[in-house]
Amino acid sequence: MIERMLQVPTIAELRRLVGEARRQGKRIGFVPTMGYLHDGHLSLVKKARETCDFVVMSIFVNPLQFGPNEDFDRYPRDLERDRELARSAGVDLLFTPSVEEMYPRQVLTTVSVAQVSEPLCGQSRPGHFDGVATVVLKLFQIVQPDAAFFGQKDAQQLAVISQMVEDLSVPVQIVPCPIVREPDGLAMSSRNVYLSPEERQQATVLYRSLKQADAWLKEGVPLDEIKQRMAEMITAEPLAEIDYVEVLTYPRLTPVDTASPGQQLIFALAVRFGRTRLIDNMLVTV
Ligand code: PAJ
Repeated sequence: MIERMLQVPTIAELRRLVGEARRQGKRIGFVPTMGYLHDGHLSLVKKARETCDFVVMSIFVNPLQFGPNEDFDRYPRDLERDRELARSAGVDLLFTPSVEEMYPRQVLTTVSVAQVSEPLCGQSRPGHFDGVATVVLKLFQIVQPDAAFFGQKDAQQLAVISQMVEDLSVPVQIVPCPIVREPDGLAMSSRNVYLSPEERQQATVLYRSLKQADAWLKEGVPLDEIKQRMAEMITAEPLAEIDYVEVLTYPRLTPVDTASPGQQLIFALAVRFGRTRLIDNMLVTV
């Protein structure tokens, strides 16, 4: 069988091709990304293929979700390589709009999800989740998928989008997918390429501290004490600078003092190595 993947840069052409697939009775799966694809992204495609007949992937580095001093300009891009990876993973249609195609005029409408957007990355990246929610809703309106696939790597993003979909009755099924890691535990991320060899090696502390947190929780160590020990573990790496180490309820992301049985919690962290900010998390059910 010849594997064919179409790539389109315009909303009109995307709508035409997805419409055709839909009229053929196909179930449409959607994987939104910012490109520079790795196995984390490709695991979402794999999952989409299990339940959908037609898989759309978008690659769009969305300026709305980057702060003025963030890495929008230097965000890694390699469309040629991405196209090949997407094709071999089984993407049927690749949507690669330009910024002008997505935002031809100044954007005056913002989707803002209260509360869930506020802690964690919402604190260190003001406006970030408004940018994410706005572009994801716009992409949903363009693609109109039956199901959309998101990684637990960005657990807060997933919580924000699920809340938005519920609140606004967006007719799409949100499918969470597990975190894909490197053999040494580092969560895959397009931003890992920024790390120097030394930083890359020390960055394994994120996952190591999450696994320790889980072990400490099972031993009955109080949550505050766990956070403190995690912070000590992380700062023991000389190049690591903590942005946050938190434990909250999931998916509402509300504060928690003591864990109660059956409750789902998230251990979440953001750590800087030089100019590179890495996030990771672990969900636990008490
Ligand atoms: P991006 O960082 O490219 O991630 C695209 C999708 O891949 C997200 O759902 C993210 O959670 C998932 N992903 C990234 N690394 C992963 C890993 N190691 N394991 C599993 N899934 C992983 O997230 C965005 O882009 C953007 O904010 C976007 C949703 C596209 C809106 O612009």
